Amino acid sequence: MAVKLLLANDHIEGIRYYDTYRKHGGYTAAEKAFKMSPADIVEEVKKSGLRGRGGAGFPTGMKWSFLAKPEGVPRHLVCNADESEPGTFKDRYLMEFHPHLFIEGLLISSYALGSNATYVYIRGEYAWIPDILEQAIAEAKNNGWLGKNILGSGFDCEIYVHRGAGAYICGEETALIESLEGKRGNPRMKPPFPAIQGVWMRPTVVNNVETLAAVVPIITMGGDEYAKIGVGKSTGTKLLSVCGNVNKPGVYEIDMTCSVEEFIYSDEYCGGIPKGRNLKACIPGGSSVPIVPANLLLKTAKGETRYMNYESLSDGGFATGTMMGSGGFIVLDDSQCVVRHTMTLARFYTHESCGQCSPCREGTGWMYKLLKNIEYGKGKMSDIDLLWDIQRKIEGNTICPLGDAAAWPVAAAIRHFRDEFEWHIKNPDEAQTRNYGLAHY
Ligand code: NAI
Ligand code: SF4
Repeated sequence: MAVKLLLANDHIEGIRYYDTYRKHGGYTAAEKAFKMSPADIVEEVKKSGLRGRGGAGFPTGMKWSFLAKPEGVPRHLVCNADESEPGTFKDRYLMEFHPHLFIEGLLISSYALGSNATYVYIRGEYAWIPDILEQAIAEAKNNGWLGKNILGSGFDCEIYVHRGAGAYICGEETALIESLEGKRGNPRMKPPFPAIQGVWMRPTVVNNVETLAAVVPIITMGGDEYAKIGVGKSTGTKLLSVCGNVNKPGVYEIDMTCSVEEFIYSDEYCGGIPKGRNLKACIPGGSSVPIVPANLLLKTAKGETRYMNYESLSDGGFATGTMMGSGGFIVLDDSQCVVRHTMTLARFYTHESCGQCSPCREGTGWMYKLLKNIEYGKGKMSDIDLLWDIQRKIEGNTICPLGDAAAWPVAAAIRHFRDEFEWHIKNPDEAQTRNYGLAHY
C-alpha cells in the first residue's frame, strides 16, 4: 500500500471545511512551524529534497534560499495555480477537496519566506475554485491563522486569490507575474529570476500548489523523514492526474517507488486498459513532455524496469525516455492515432503562443498546418522532414519554455511513430475517412 501524505484524509467527509480539517490534525504543522525560525523551516524543506511539482522539478529549498532579502523591500510568495497543462488536474483536486491543507502550506511557506502578502494565481477556467478557496481563507482568518500577529508571532499574512483569464502562457512564472501586475501575460527574459526581481520587481518565490501543500507533511514529520520516502532524488510523494484509455482515470498519490507497469495495470491505480486493448503509448508528464511508445515505457532502453519517478522516466534522455513533468499522465491505447494526437497538441500550442518570439509564433503555426495536412491525407513525404526541421529550430531559441513544449511532442512523435506519419501520406483516402476516436482529454 502506497504512502499517502497529501490525500491521507481523502476519505473524510467534510475535510474541505475548517472544523473537520482541524479535528483531524489540521494546522498542527503550522503550530509547530511558528515555534521554529523561518531559516529552520527553509532548512527542513532543503533536507526533505522536495522538488517543484509544477513540472520543472527544481529543488524547492534551493529556490527558497535564492530569495533576495534587501533591507526594507517587501517580498512575496506567489502560488502558481494556473494549472493548464493538457492532462493535468491534480492541483485542482487539492484546491477543491483539500483547501485547508493548501492554505496551511501557504501559511507556513509565507512565514518561512517573510511574505506578508501572498498571492494565489488561479487559472480562469477553474471558475468554481476561487469561491472554495476564499471561504477556506475566511475560515482560517476567523480562527486566527491569517491576518495580524498570527499565534502571537508578530508575523502578519494575508492571502489573495487572483483569477486568471484563460491563457495557458500565464502559467509560465514570469508571464504570471506580468498578469498579476495587471499587464498582458508576456513572459520576461530570465535571468533575473523572480527570486531577485519578481512581482512589482520585488523578490518573489513562485511555487506550485502541490509543492506548497507538501510543506505541511515535511514540517509534521521533519525533512529527513520525508526524504526517506521515495527513491534517490525523487523524495516524498507525487500526485498524478490520469486520463485517456484507462479503466480508472482520476488523481492518485504515489511514493515514486512504483513501477510504470504497476501504475497502469494495478487496481490500486489505473486498473489497466479498457476493453482488453493494448497499450500503445503514454505521455506521463502533461502534453509538453515527449510521448513514449509502450515498449520504452514499461522498460528502459537497457531493459530495466521503468519507475514513476524523475530519474527513471527520463532515463535515456528524449531518445528513449521522457519526463515526470507536471504529473498529467495521458494513456493511449492501440485505437489512437498519434498523428491526430500530435496535431491536436500543435493546435493548442499555436493558439496559446503569446507571439513575442518568431520561432514560436511562426513555427507552432507551421507545424500545425503541416500536421493537419498529413492527418487529412494532403501531406507529402518531405513534410515529415520539414516538421522535424521546424521543431529543431524552435527548441532552445525562444524566450520561454512554451517553444520547447510545442517542439518536443512533435519530435518524439516522429522519432517513435514515423511509420504512422508515412502511412497517412501513402494512404490519403483512408487517412481522410478513417474515423479515429479522439484521445479522451
Ligand atoms: P525552469 O527550470 O526554468 O525553472 C524552475 C524554477 O526554478 C523557476 O521557478 C525558476 O525561477 C527557478 N530557478 C531556476 N534557476 C534559478 C536560479 N539560478 N536562480 C533562481 N531561481 C531559479 O522551469 P519553468 O519554466 O519554471 O517550468 C517549466 C516546466 O513547467 C516544464 O517542465 C513543464 O513541465 C511545466 N509546465 C507545467 C504546467 C502546469 O500546468 N503545471 C504548464 C506548462 C508547463
Ligand atoms: Fe511567447 Fe512562445 Fe516566445 Fe514563450 S516561446 S515568449 S509563448 S512566443
